[in-house]
Amino acid sequence: MAVERTLSIIKPDAVAKNVIGEIYSRFEKEGLKIVAAKMLHLSRAQAEEFYAVHKARPFFNDLVSFMITGPVMAQVLEGENAIAKNREIMGATNPKEAAPGTIRADFAVSIDENAVHGSDGPETAAQEIAFFFKENELCPRTR
Ligand code: PPS
Repeated sequence: MAVERTLSIIKPDAVAKNVIGEIYSRFEKEGLKIVAAKMLHLSRAQAEEFYAVHKARPFFNDLVSFMITGPVMAQVLEGENAIAKNREIMGATNPKEAAPGTIRADFAVSIDENAVHGSDGPETAAQEIAFFFKENELCPRTR
């Protein structure tokens, strides 16, 4: 299986709940390594750009407004099959449908505020990582 990198965001609701450490612990327990991380408060323009692919969807404005309600934690996760593995750990988009033990089942209450984001494929992962991090901010984990 290939070693991949994926972009993960802990959204404002989960940052406000003070569960960054608990979420990081789940990544680490599943063998994903954090190779870059930063906390930031997105501007509306940044959030609109990040979610531009969803611009035509009815929830776009609500999603952007929610994502700028407070700081987010963005990280790059590295590991075998990291993209799919992260999405498995996250659980379904709608927390009501998320499997027990997933981040969204445990920390999210609604589809509007669902605790985490994870890239959905290799191309999106590359674009989303570049959105948040410069190449020299990624730290290869050799041991
Ligand atoms: S996904 O995760 O991309 O496969 O899910 P998708 O259904 O395509 O949703 C894309 C992002 O929009 C968010 N979303 C919503 N936000 C607010 N209200 C509603 N109803 C809603 N439905 C979906 C969803 O959480 C995805 O955001 P990210 O940050 O990618 O998880």
